[in-house]
Amino acid sequence: MVKVVQEDVLERFHDSLERCQSNPEFLGLFYDRLQHYSDDIQKLFESADLERIKRMIQQSLILLMMATEGSIHSHQRLKRLREQHTAIGVQPEHYTTWLETLLSVVEELDPKYNLAIDQAWRTVLGEGINIMTSS
Ligand code: HEM
Repeated sequence: MVKVVQEDVLERFHDSLERCQSNPEFLGLFYDRLQHYSDDIQKLFESADLERIKRMIQQSLILLMMATEGSIHSHQRLKRLREQHTAIGVQPEHYTTWLETLLSVVEELDPKYNLAIDQAWRTVLGEGINIMTSS
């Protein structure tokens, strides 16, 4: 395992994630905002149930974080998920929407939110999102 992100950035991300997760609204608010962003995104989630989606978002955050920490397993899992997502109609631009929507929720729920925290989320999640969007 090769660490590719500085320890203080990871710590900033973890602390912010913990503050967000202490709010029971976190995952539901993110999903609600993402789903209502556009008709095509809403269609993708048409047959999904809320509890499954919340687990999926939780799992996504862990996988993306592990990818940044250099986990080969998560790299491979993200590559398989990339194929799976493409097959159900997820487009590259949806990942930008996913990230910006998530950060709008972090900004709202993390009382310590600032630019450095925003950057930490982008850095930590960015590596995995690159894997999901690369062809
Ligand atoms: C940002 C990186 C993302 C990661 C790591 C990720 C991860 C996952 C995972 C782990 C699952 C569950 C797969 C399974 O159990 O078979 C899933 C399902 C799904 N994802 Fe993502 N996802 C990401 C982005 C997105 C985006 C951008 C969209 C669309 C806007 C999306 C839409 C979906 C949908 C529709 C499902 C199926 C939900 C269901 O009906 O169960 N995902 N994703």
